[in-house]
Amino acid sequence: AGALALEVAAGRRVVLLCEGDVSLFASASYVLLALLEHHPDCPLRLIPGITAASAAAAAGAWPLALQRQTLRVLPTPDDPAELEALLEEAMACPEGQRPVLALLKLGARWRWVRPLLERLGLLEDALFARHVGWPDQLVAPAAAVPPEREGSSAYFSLLLIRCGWPQVLPDTSPRLG
Ligand SMILES: C[S@@+](CC[C@H](N)C(=O)[O-])C[C@H]1O[C@@H](n2cnc3c(N)ncnc32)[C@H](O)[C@@H]1O
Repeated sequence: AGALALEVAAGRRVVLLCEGDVSLFASASYVLLALLEHHPDCPLRLIPGITAASAAAAAGAWPLALQRQTLRVLPTPDDPAELEALLEEAMACPEGQRPVLALLKLGARWRWVRPLLERLGLLEDALFARHVGWPDQLVAPAAAVPPEREGSSAYFSLLLIRCGWPQVLPDTSPRLG
């Protein structure tokens, strides 16, 4: 923050780039807080970005949340028991109101998350996304991504888990004529 403020004070325009949205689990937020505290006169502007969960959903043609569903965006727990409890809590909601979970910081945890989802019957309705928007983007049904696939444990990977669909959906069957 000090270095950025110095550049601005010298009359230069400075850009701090951030992956995804600048306000969501972003290191840039620490820089922002330090600037606000130590350099309150430094002019700044935050430009909102597309969070990785939204980018992944769009890349996978995967509706993120519908009707009365909630969307929970959280870092993947370190402890399998903690994730299992979260998923069981989600499954205990009435079917139409079950949340969609966006698990960030998936990385190497994919090795144990995948079998856990399989055991709970949630693997088929989950989407795996790695390096969304990068040249080596991988967005695929989670069931198609083995636990040890090369690069599947990348830091920039996430999982979208659908715990249920709304009870009433429009008739989406193909119509002739
Ligand atoms: C520190 S958080 C930053 C979140 C970011 N500010 C956002 O709005 O998406 C880092 C995590 O976001 C997710 N992430 C960020 N960019 C991604 C990308 N391009 N592809 C897949 N996941 C990404 C990964 O789960 C990664 O571990």
